[in-house]
Amino acid sequence: MHGLSTKSLNPPGVIHNLMRAQWAGAIIANSTQLKIFDAVDLGFRSADEVARETGIQPRAAEILLNALVSLELLTKDEKGYSTTEESHYYMVSTSPLFVGGYFQARPAFARAWQNMAEIVTTGKPGAEINKDETAQEFFPDLAAALFPMNFAYGQRLAEYLKIAERTEKVRVLDLACGSAVWSIPLARANKNVHVDALDFAPVLDVARKFTEKAGVKEQYSYLSGNWQDIALSESTYDVVILGHILHSEGKVRSVELLSHVYGALKKGGTVAIAEFLVDSSRTSPAFAAMFALNMYLVTTDGCVFSHDELGDMLNDSGFVHVREMPKNQHDSDVMLADKV
Ligand SMILES: C[S@@+](CC[C@H](N)C(=O)[O-])C[C@H]1O[C@@H](n2cnc3c(N)ncnc32)[C@H](O)[C@@H]1O
Repeated sequence: MHGLSTKSLNPPGVIHNLMRAQWAGAIIANSTQLKIFDAVDLGFRSADEVARETGIQPRAAEILLNALVSLELLTKDEKGYSTTEESHYYMVSTSPLFVGGYFQARPAFARAWQNMAEIVTTGKPGAEINKDETAQEFFPDLAAALFPMNFAYGQRLAEYLKIAERTEKVRVLDLACGSAVWSIPLARANKNVHVDALDFAPVLDVARKFTEKAGVKEQYSYLSGNWQDIALSESTYDVVILGHILHSEGKVRSVELLSHVYGALKKGGTVAIAEFLVDSSRTSPAFAAMFALNMYLVTTDGCVFSHDELGDMLNDSGFVHVREMPKNQHDSDVMLADKV
């Protein structure tokens, strides 16, 4: 039993900062719902103008706008408030990259996080998004909501693979494609790209909408169903994309999936895997370490991999030249490897 400390202590700074982070999440979710960024982006730069445009109280508008400046989502100068490049593209509701859907598309996650104590005590996940029926219900909204989160990574992948320079036909398999966010930038970069997009039927309806909006629908064909039930053509693809799928499969099925993909790639072809990877201690970066818990809460076998572990899994499946796309501090990871 602790007695009250007689030692001179520091205040609970780490704990306080973590508690404050919850407020930041509530501020951005509610600001997108209130269309605060739309108003500022339209040129309503004063708190009174934003209050009139959005219907909130003028005093609240000033407090909220200042808080958004403190979170680096707006700037403030003598002319008033402005959006940043990030909030202009991602926080304005009319932008094709608006992230607002992300806050609505996560009820299964939110419930599971709320019930964490029960789930970690019973070992029974709060949802099983890795089961076909649940996946088909859960993923259409989530897949659409992930489009803005992953689009810039897809653009970088297209650049990294120098897709625009290819003069011959490029066959791409976007496996567990969601909105097709990873392959759309490849298709837009080069008309020679043809994508087979694989996912459950209700998610493919989402992918169809996104490929149409992006002006690349003619470059797509679709493979509908669970990847485990779909026989892929052997030695067919130049690029196979696995965008945030391995973590919900768990290690055993991920190894199966990698050898499936190996068979489907041509010699000289490349697999590109987007994941949230942890370091070898499995404690960093914080988001990936917490994502491991997220997968525990909503799947039966889901997990995160370390960089070395995923590299070994690729080598064991026959891949060579394991490497990672260059990244900035907060970016998620993209690991690549080749079949030779
Ligand atoms: C986290 S989302 C990622 C979507 C997209 N690749 C992205 O990065 O935004 C995972 C996707 O995998 C699909 N998926 C999950 N299990 C699958 C399976 N067994 N077969 C085919 N697709 C699956 C889901 O429907 C969902 O679209």
